[in-house]
Amino acid sequence: MLVAKTITFRIRRFDPETDSAPHWDSYAVNVFEGMTVLEALHQIKAEQEPSLAWRSSCRMGVCGSCGMFVNQFPQLACQTQVLHLEADIVSVEPLPNYPNVKDLVPDLQPLVEKHAEVKPYIIHPDLKEMREPSGEFLQTPAEREAFSQFTYCIKCGVCLAACPTAATDPAFLGPQALTQAYRYSADNRDSGVHSRRDSVGAFHGAYQCHMAGACSHACPKGVDPALAIQLLKRALVLDNFGFGKKESQSAKVAPLADVVKELEEFAPPPRTAE
Ligand code: SF4
Ligand code: FES
Repeated sequence: MLVAKTITFRIRRFDPETDSAPHWDSYAVNVFEGMTVLEALHQIKAEQEPSLAWRSSCRMGVCGSCGMFVNQFPQLACQTQVLHLEADIVSVEPLPNYPNVKDLVPDLQPLVEKHAEVKPYIIHPDLKEMREPSGEFLQTPAEREAFSQFTYCIKCGVCLAACPTAATDPAFLGPQALTQAYRYSADNRDSGVHSRRDSVGAFHGAYQCHMAGACSHACPKGVDPALAIQLLKRALVLDNFGFGKKESQSAKVAPLADVVKELEEFAPPPRTAE
């Protein structure tokens, strides 16, 4: 590979077993055309600092595990080319708005818990039909399109790291979870918007969004969480005034409360409210 430039990487280091506070270390890397931040980290680890820690897997923007704060912007290290940053010094930090495990490794447990809290699954009013379907749950292309882009989320947590509301309110459900709440609520097979109200309609839910739009700007998969949150607010208001989707659509429909109860047996326990 032809070396295009030597770049200094300033990396925020923290080892909870030996450090009382984070510090910065610098490493010079010979960067070639097309080299990603993730590849630079691999090179640093192989040639200069074997103890450097981060999380990654697929190296192709699919697994969602390599989110980092690169030059003050949350992004996927495997999708970020070093030379595209147009900087002689590249700073790399763990994602903000998450606890730090070690070096560049964030603790994504809050993201996972918030995701689970919004009941991210189809809540169909007829549980018997769900388990033993008598036919297909038909969906037109237009009905699929209503939520299609929100299914592209890879749960990387970058949007929550970009969110100024999450920075000041750690209990805010955040763009990823609220987007998934809308993704399911907008699905024509789902009747669960009412049962999601306890989380998404509560104080730390959708109405806490200040509409900064930073989540949509940062999302590496082209998802628009800011739009989803506004659409979710509309769905909540419609539900509040009784104009939302009907919970019961046929005579053989089970009471929605029973459906939710049974589905929740398979769901993780809710977060402790702050
Ligand atoms: S909405 Fe985008 S930024 Fe947020 S978790 Fe999903 S893929 Fe990542
Ligand atoms: S390593 Fe999988 S998204 Fe970056």
